[in-house]
Formats: sequence, structure tokens, C-alpha cells
Amino acid sequence: MAELNTEAKLKKQLKQEKIQLWNPPYTDDQDGEPGRQHMQELAERYAPLLGLPVEEVGGALEAIRVQAVKRGKGNKTFRESNVATLELLLPRDGKKDPKTKNHLETRLDVLVQEVVDRIGDEYGLKYIKLILNGKTLSVDQRLDEQGVKNHSKMMVLKVSDAEWKQQLSEEEEKKKNQDESVQRTQKGFQILSERDGSEDPDSTPFLEIADQRGNPLKIPHEEKKALILAMGFHEKGRSLMKKKQFDNALFKQATQGPCSAPKPGMLDFVNKVKWEAWKSLGSISQDEARQQYCDLIGSLVAAEGGSSAQVSAQPAASGTTYETLLVTTEDDITTIKLNRPAKKNAITTEMYNEIIAALEQAAKDNSVITVFTGAGDFYCSGNDLTNFTKIPEGGVEQMARRGGDLLRKYVKAYIDFPKPLVAVVNGPAVGVSVTVLGLFDLVYATERASFHTPFTQLGQSAEGCSSYTFPRLMGGAKASEMLLFNKKLTAAQACQLGLVTEVFPDSSFQSEVWTRLKAYAKLPPNSLALSKQLIRSVEKQRLHSVNEAEVQSLVERWQSDECFNAVMSFFQAKSKL
Ligand code: COA
Repeated sequence: MAELNTEAKLKKQLKQEKIQLWNPPYTDDQDGEPGRQHMQELAERYAPLLGLPVEEVGGALEAIRVQAVKRGKGNKTFRESNVATLELLLPRDGKKDPKTKNHLETRLDVLVQEVVDRIGDEYGLKYIKLILNGKTLSVDQRLDEQGVKNHSKMMVLKVSDAEWKQQLSEEEEKKKNQDESVQRTQKGFQILSERDGSEDPDSTPFLEIADQRGNPLKIPHEEKKALILAMGFHEKGRSLMKKKQFDNALFKQATQGPCSAPKPGMLDFVNKVKWEAWKSLGSISQDEARQQYCDLIGSLVAAEGGSSAQVSAQPAASGTTYETLLVTTEDDITTIKLNRPAKKNAITTEMYNEIIAALEQAAKDNSVITVFTGAGDFYCSGNDLTNFTKIPEGGVEQMARRGGDLLRKYVKAYIDFPKPLVAVVNGPAVGVSVTVLGLFDLVYATERASFHTPFTQLGQSAEGCSSYTFPRLMGGAKASEMLLFNKKLTAAQACQLGLVTEVFPDSSFQSEVWTRLKAYAKLPPNSLALSKQLIRSVEKQRLHSVNEAEVQSLVERWQSDECFNAVMSFFQAKSKL
């Protein structure tokens, strides 16, 4: 860690002075050897700045130089021969020191199995799997098909004998499960296609064929049934690819209620994934699960865009459809629901963009109030940490700059939102989903909710204007406890400190909150919007400058070793489960 910090500081200094260690006079053009005298002079100049011995600084500078030369050579080789250089993060007890960087040269159009075998031979590791951006690479697909690029960083993890065997039979198991899942879909769609909406649609969902504006189409009964089944199968294919076990979990919740089955054993991977997906739905009711199941299928079909008809769940979602959100308008309320329950609604780059678009849409539509909430048992687990592992060609700096631009725009959308904005916090909330709460007009929380901003733990700093709104809401000392020292608040504590408006018992949370919101949405819309804008106008400029300062700090933090190491240990811990 100490060496990493020294290297980070040196890199910053070199960048400021625009010194390129991979070029003369620091590196010989011909043989890539160091320009010893210039390197020594640099070490002597930097040592007092860092308060470290010259030898130590010299060693760190040389390590940076070697990496840079290697990277430069790698780029040249890739351009000339298509041979990429990948960085490997090895397990701690591998043959080589995991702290030194290990590289592997390979073409990207080869099967992952080939690379696994090579790494196994070279580093004396028997059973391993490769992880990129938090995902295990399939051995029977090519590297480039799974997003591996020149300079990608891949984590090498050892797997046990049993897990190895399990992996081999997993494909077979997956296929069997998919077949069963398709049969369930057929059954589900058959039932749904028989219904025509004549029963109570609140308790008996049905599917409607509608045009792109959501107007139901009149189609003879038998043809409608056939069309619904065909579209169901078509969507099933897509959704199987997309959301793994979540449809299965929703189906179970809808038909059997909350998960009470014991957790499968650690090595029973397939059933564990299913169990976790089911468990993640928490205590949501069977009716809610049924509705979500229909919404999910409806949103997938509509997202296809190419077909002239769509299957829409009742009540129909209005306007644009999204991949990661469920956006509906009903009773003059537009609801934006984060819809990645299997990942605790962690916000991906795509999701940030969709939320910005959904807020823009809600600002313009006819609704009176806009509500933000989460699907499943979590409100939101904050920034999706895999966002940090998707390093673009321009490197970490480019990733950080792009991330900063997106965050600035995201928070701006909340600051400028012109109508009353309400958070319905249906479960635990983490990170950016907590910090932007200071920009909401009402925050209703279930007693199960908690509020956690573990920024310093992740080597990061506060965002969402919380460095301003939190001290203003709760006082400096309490705000620091959250933003500096990562204190997690219960719903009751958050309410006491003014971050939450009111806390409700979990069993009556949805019904109490929605009854109240529906009543509020009947208030005169212009008066509501103008009052909100008056309150916001007093500090709008200040909020924009706070947003800017927070983004700048984070762009620096995202390039730090502290942040990189924290994110990597999150995924490493997960992979070892
Ligand atoms: N980024 C990426 N993936 C996330 C995530 C996040 N912020 N939060 C949860 N996930 C993923 C988990 O990796 C896991 O994926 P897997 O099923 O492929 O293993 C899945 O969501 C379920 O989460 P899990 O950790 O198994 O659930 P849990 O109930 O034990 O814990 C959290 C939930 C939110 C407490 C835990 O996942 C966590 O600490 N996440 C990180 C939160 C965070 O630090 N956010 C950034 C703040 S700045």
C-alpha cells in the first residue's frame, strides 16, 4: 500500500511537470534501458518533496518507468501484430508476488480456455477462473467476445477441486434450467392469454396487445392468444440472456410468496443463485410480484422497438420505456423505479443516463408529483462498482473524467427538477442514492431502510451535494459522522436528523405512502411546482457550485490507488464467497 501511494504521488508529480519517463533522456530510444543520470537527478529532486529516502524514490520511479515502457511496447505490438498485453492480478499464494505487475501477451480472438491453460502452466495454478469487470469469463467463448481488450486487467482466482467439477457440469445444468424456465413461461403466458380483463385486474393480471401509443388493438380471441404466446417466447429468449434468474424468482414470489427455503450449500452454485434472486425480493406481496413480472415482460417487449405492436401490462406504462427502470404514470404521479433487484439496484452507467432521461421526461409530462423508488428488497446500493472496472482505451484518467461528466449531469437533473420529487425508500440505501436525498422534497422510508455513505471506506469523497445539504439538514458533527466516518443510520435515526420526512411500518409502508401521495397529487399542480421552484431558487446556484466541487474531487479520487484497491477488494471478497 505504501509503495502504491508513493507511486501515485510520483505519477501526479510527473504529470504536472509533463515528464515522460518512457522517452529520452529517461529511457534509451534503442534498447529501452534507463538514462541513469537523469533518473538519479529526478529521484534526488523528488525525495525531499515526498519526505522519503532517495533510494526509495529512485526505486519507485524505475518501477513506473518500466511499466510505461512495457505499455508503450504493448501498444506498438498490438498495432503491428494484434497481440494484446493483458495485466493479471494473481492470487496471493500464486508462484509470483501479486504486488508486482504480471503481464500476458495473447491474441484476443482465442478461447478463454487457451489463456486459462497458459496461465495455469506459467504460474503453477491448477484450477483457476478469470474475472473481468466483476464477471467470470466463460471458458468456451473468445476473449474479445467477452469484452477483453488490449491492456485489460483480469483477476485470476483459484477455485477448489469441487468448484472446478461443478463448473464443468454447470453448462448442462444451465440448459436444463432454461428448458424448465421456458416451460414455465409457456404455462404463464397461456394463463395470461386466456384472460381478457373481465375479472378484477388488480388481483388477476392480464395482457393486452396494444399499438406503440398504448391503445389496445381489437384482435380476434384465438389470434390474440397465439400472438401473445409467440411474443412471450420471443421475449423469453431475450430475457433469459438478460436477467438470468430474476424472472424465475419473481415467478416463485408471485406463486409461492416470500422465500422461506433454506439457503443452498456453498458449492451448489446454480441453486444458490436462484435462491439469492428469490430472497432478494424480500417480503414484497404476491400481487406486487405478479405485477412486477408483468411489468418486466411488458418493458422488455416495448424496448424491442422494431415491432409494430407491444404487449403491455396493466396498468400500462406511459411514454418511453427503459432497460433498467420501470417508469409509469398513474393517478397524476410519475414513478421511476430502479429495476435491477438482483444487484440491489446498483446504478450502472446506462442507468445513470436512463434516470437523467426519465427525470427530463417526468419534468415535461402531465404528472403532478414524481416518485423515485426501487424494485425488490433494496432501495439502491449506490454506484455500481463495476463502473470502475470498465477502463476505456484512454485509461483510468479518461474513465474518471467521463464518470465526472456523467455525475455532474446526473446531480444537475435533481437540482433543476421543477416539480415535487418524492423518495419512497423501500429498503436499505447506499452511496449516491442517499446523498441526493437532500435534493428531494419528501423522503418516506420503511422502518427496514438504512442509510449508508461509505465513501472514505472506498477511497472516495461525498457527492450529490451532500457536502452542503447534510450539514445544513443535520448539523456539521452528525453529517461528518456519516460522510467522513461512514456511520450507517437506521430509518428512525435518519428521520430524527431531518434526512427522512417520515418512517412507516414495513407491513403497511406501500399502502400508507401511496394513499398519501395520491391525495397530494390532487393539489393544484401549478401552485405545487411554483412553490417548489421558489424554495429551490434561493440556493440553486450554490448547489450547482457544490456539485462542481464534489465532481472535481471525485475525478481525482477515482484515479487514486486507495479507490482502486477498495473496489478490487469488494469484488475479490465477492468472488471468494
Ligand atoms: N456495485 C456492484 N455490484 C453490487 C453493488 C454495487 N454497488 N451492490 C450489490 N452488488 C451486487 C453484488 O456484487 C451481488 O452480485 P452477485 O450476485 O453477482 O454476487 C449482488 O449485487 C447482491 O449483493 P450481495 O452483496 O450479495 O447482497 P447483500 O445483501 O449481502 O449486501 C450490499 C448488499 C449493498 C450491502 C453489498 O452488496 C454492498 O456492500 N455493496 C456495495 C455497496 C457500495 O459500496 N456502493 C457504493 C457506495 S459509494
